Amino acid sequence: MQRMVYVDGQYLPESQATISVFDRGFLFADAVYEVTSVINGGLVDLDAHLARLQRSCRELSLTLPVTIDTLKNIHLALIEKNALHEGSIYLQLSRGNAGDRDFHYPPTDVKPTLVLFTQARPIIAHPKAEIGLTVITSPDIRWQRRDIKTVSLLAACMAKELAHAQQADDALLVENGFITEGTSSNCYIVTDDKTVITRPLSHALLPGITRQSLLALAQQDNISVEERPFTPEDAYQAREIFITSATSFVLPVVKLDDRIIGDGKPGPITRRLREIYIDMAQTQTRI
Ligand code: PDD
Repeated sequence: MQRMVYVDGQYLPESQATISVFDRGFLFADAVYEVTSVINGGLVDLDAHLARLQRSCRELSLTLPVTIDTLKNIHLALIEKNALHEGSIYLQLSRGNAGDRDFHYPPTDVKPTLVLFTQARPIIAHPKAEIGLTVITSPDIRWQRRDIKTVSLLAACMAKELAHAQQADDALLVENGFITEGTSSNCYIVTDDKTVITRPLSHALLPGITRQSLLALAQQDNISVEERPFTPEDAYQAREIFITSATSFVLPVVKLDDRIIGDGKPGPITRRLREIYIDMAQTQTRI
């Protein structure tokens, strides 16, 4: 069975879903996106993802062509049409097809392009959850508004390729001597006194929805969290390192560059945070 995807008001088999060569998402990466995880056929933190989408739109003067309720219904319809049990839903909104290539924003009557599709993949039984990730550090060469979730992801792809070329799973990005975040995740270290450190929000990094929920859960679980910048050296010395994202929840990092972190195995704080995050996601999606 072909995957059913949503394009501008229609549900179509993926082979029939097309957009224009003049679409500004394609020509200029003039588009924003969201990725929401699906567990047990239910959506995790969809309201928060849609709130961040609205913020991204505001920052770029993009207008959503449908209401938030309609967006929710499209997510639900795609889960049903594709019998999706676990994975994610990708949503992309571009500034549409202005009929030609022109840097200026088109007139506001040009309709944005809205595309959504499902991706089936294991999140709870993520292949790296038990063994942990090996990562490298890499210079953060992205633009200066990483708080907006745009599809301009080439720098992230380049860093992931660099990691793969060095037999690593992923990269942590470094700017002015401090780690900003992962290529597609937020990053955390755990100090000797068991405090979780993560960089405070700013234009330098994406305000992760997983991060937002996890910090609240950590507080309820009496795990202390400090929001402050940290360096690769801090990370080498850390007891634990982990990353978070909607596609992986909480994943341990066991090696950074050529340094083994802690004893080279996922640490207790990371394990606990992964467990309480999964609990929350399962409770939210229980029918
Ligand atoms: N990426 N930072 C960056 C640069 C990201 O791309 C992501 C997510 C995050 C974590 O955000 P959240 O917890 O809301 O998923 C942080 C998604 C999953 C992606 O591009 O596939």
